[in-house]
Amino acid sequence: MKAVGIVASPRMDGNTAFVVGRVLEGTGAEGRVFGMNGIEPCSACMACKGTVRCVKRDGMQAIYEALAVSDLLVVGSPIYLDHISAQAWTFLNRLYCFIGPAPQLENRWRGPRRCLVTATQGRPAEGHYLPQLGQITAVLRKYWSIECQEPLVVGGCRREPDLAARPEVISAALAAGRRLAGR
Ligand SMILES: Cc1cc2nc3c(=O)[nH]c(=O)nc-3n(C[C@H](O)[C@H](O)[C@H](O)COP(=O)(O)O)c2cc1C
Repeated sequence: MKAVGIVASPRMDGNTAFVVGRVLEGTGAEGRVFGMNGIEPCSACMACKGTVRCVKRDGMQAIYEALAVSDLLVVGSPIYLDHISAQAWTFLNRLYCFIGPAPQLENRWRGPRRCLVTATQGRPAEGHYLPQLGQITAVLRKYWSIECQEPLVVGGCRREPDLAARPEVISAALAAGRRLAGR
């Protein structure tokens, strides 16, 4: 089994990366982690409606290749100003190539069928941004019929990453990974 982890934080050694790493560990799958730094937003050129894959030559190409051969997807985002990060939106926008032209909007998904969205946030109340995370899972379900688990939220995160000292966070992330993999 293979898994792709997306760290949609600019900090590849931060809280989000830590949680994505533990979830992947929990899946027991061969996991590959990708950051979004340097990956451009969608240009709305619409070339992908003909080519299926986005024509931009950037780091997203390696992600498409990994998605195509993987069974599981973990999308991790920090909460920025009450929503997922711009990097997480960029990841989702760059999946636009997997939607055929209007009006049919054909599902052209080439990637994992099962996904977990996870978020880290400063605010301790872990239910606070669930509506926003629900919007993300709704998109993944609506366009590509991806089966999404309940989002995993880790609250009370500080700027200096200290999640390694929170055993309950590690257990929750490992358990979420096991559930994602059906183990
Ligand atoms: C620009 C910015 C905006 C933020 N906005 C929020 C917010 O609205 N709510 C919240 O709970 N935490 C907020 N935070 C805190 C981050 O979500 C939190 O520290 C997160 O764990 C950072 O993830 P990282 O370590 O992967 O970068 C914000 C942090 C930054 C840098």
